[in-house]
Amino acid sequence: MKDDPTIPADARFETRAIHVGQDWRSETGAVIPPIYMTSTFETGNPGGFDYTRSGNPNFRNLQATLASLENAKHATIFASGISSISAIMFSLKAGDTILSEQQIYGATYRLFERVLRRFDIKIKYADLTNPANYALIKDLKPALVWLESPTNPLLKILDIKAISDVAHKVGSIVAVDNTFASSLLQQPLDLGADLSQLSTTKYTNGHSDCLGGAVCTNNDEWQEKMIFAQKPSVCSRARLMPGSFHAVRRPKRCESSVIAPMRSNSPNASKAAKASKP
Ligand SMILES: Cc1ncc(COP(=O)(O)O)c(C=O)c1O
Repeated sequence: MKDDPTIPADARFETRAIHVGQDWRSETGAVIPPIYMTSTFETGNPGGFDYTRSGNPNFRNLQATLASLENAKHATIFASGISSISAIMFSLKAGDTILSEQQIYGATYRLFERVLRRFDIKIKYADLTNPANYALIKDLKPALVWLESPTNPLLKILDIKAISDVAHKVGSIVAVDNTFASSLLQQPLDLGADLSQLSTTKYTNGHSDCLGGAVCTNNDEWQEKMIFAQKPSVCSRARLMPGSFHAVRRPKRCESSVIAPMRSNSPNASKAAKASKP
């Protein structure tokens, strides 16, 4: 968290990744967090837990770490990246409009086209690398501007700050899928976005051994919506533990583990994007 009293305010990313959210240590001295397998908690426990789908000590640890890495007041974790995107989308209502960057992750596009449209949510797409298209934000006044930067698979980079400035003038909420950059390389909230969403399955974890998602925000009202959405979500236990971040464990390999594959995959990514259908 931004104001974790146990961590110096100027602590760097690597320090926060392995120290924030480690409050199990004071209980037993264990250096690795125990995994809480329980589905249910006794009423009146000091942590305020009741049922694991809506809260568990492991969730609390991971949420604190992710919030710190994203410079966010709050983080809420979900079972997968798509589960966290769904949590944002299910906070909208029939009749709302989403203006989305046109080149987004395939399953997000499917969610928009095959699910949200059935609930009378209107979705418009635009190439938001082109500032001329920002005019659409003013015209549509969408409830949500959906960004992904870099995009999967074309690695388009959007100007999150410029888009957020325009969107906020008409009262739109800006959400950024920060999966590909990860918290190591980009903090969307610092650039003006309201919500930063992660598939922690990807570079945040980096080991290809568990699914996860998160939504980070400084907006208390949206945090309430995320907690509400977490309760009915398919939120499995958090196997991704604070400190397991690939890029942090191997900082010198960040270039090879995150940036180099992006560069080398670029030609293939273009081919895949052209061939893919919703
Ligand atoms: C940019 C992006 N967003 C969201 C997702 C969905 O994440 P998950 O597979 O954890 O549901 C992915 C998965 O590849 C992704 O690349």
